[in-house]
Amino acid sequence: MSTVLITGASGGIGYELAKLFARNHHNLILVARSGEKLAKVATEFQAQGTTVKTITVDLAEAPSAKFVFEQTRGENVDILINNAGYGAFGEFAEMSESDILGQISLNITTLTQMTRSFLPGMIARRSGRIMNVASTAGFQPGPLMAVYYATKAYVISFSEAIANEVAGAGVTVTCFCPGATHTGFAKRAGNDQSRIFKQFGAMRADEVAADGYQAVMKGRTLAISGARNWVVAQSTRFAPRKMVTAISRWASEKAAP
Ligand SMILES: NC(=O)c1ccc[n+]([C@@H]2O[C@H](COP(=O)([O-])OP(=O)(O)OC[C@H]3O[C@@H](n4cnc5c(N)ncnc54)[C@H](OP(=O)(O)O)[C@@H]3O)[C@@H](O)[C@H]2O)c1
Repeated sequence: MSTVLITGASGGIGYELAKLFARNHHNLILVARSGEKLAKVATEFQAQGTTVKTITVDLAEAPSAKFVFEQTRGENVDILINNAGYGAFGEFAEMSESDILGQISLNITTLTQMTRSFLPGMIARRSGRIMNVASTAGFQPGPLMAVYYATKAYVISFSEAIANEVAGAGVTVTCFCPGATHTGFAKRAGNDQSRIFKQFGAMRADEVAADGYQAVMKGRTLAISGARNWVVAQSTRFAPRKMVTAISRWASEKAAP
């Protein structure tokens, strides 16, 4: 039975992914800040016969990746899902330093350190899977969420590069890109009234997680959740950059009531 470690598993897409891994007989290591929510989730899966360990930690804090790695010493993590992430909405010039650095720290620094911590063991065992959760936001600049979009561009570039490096080593690296999804994300980000969420229609977290589960188990390098999201992501490759950026801003602006 293999062990999967999922960050950001107390809610949203991470929780739905945990459900799928539990259903498919994997042991779970679940990470998030809220110990109470994690305990509730653990109880739910343990009642179904799944072995669950929880790690309560703020992954936006500097030594957190090392802490998680230490906590899992002695057990092989076969699948690592770097899912925890957050966005903050607003003009960059007015954004607080804690939101700017918090997004970079959680979405980039910790994700990178987690990958660096767990990848060598997987390569040594010639077996393992890593899935980094990026976003369709990573395919274009994002005025009004400039830092968030840029962090997700990093995740896409980083993951595709690492996937290439480990090809043939028995390890796969998958970059998974959801589009707008109904979770707690938009409320925390402050963009739940944007055209993206109000007008275009967001996907359900369980549908998105099902796409992510398939992508990581098939070892796909880059997977975009949802056919419409795939088309939008492809269109950014051919349209002029200025136009793409202007449309991206329009989509992030508040929808008419
Ligand atoms: N929802 C969307 O529209 C959307 C679209 C594209 C991509 N994504 C990406 O999908 C991933 C999951 O997002 P989601 O929509 O499921 O968001 P969510 O509903 O807000 O859930 C985020 C999860 O991450 C945990 N988390 C947040 N900050 C953390 C921190 N500092 N340390 C440890 N855990 C932390 C949260 O638990 P605690 O609060 O208990 O810590 C929660 O379990 C993110 O990487 C996000 O960028 C989301």
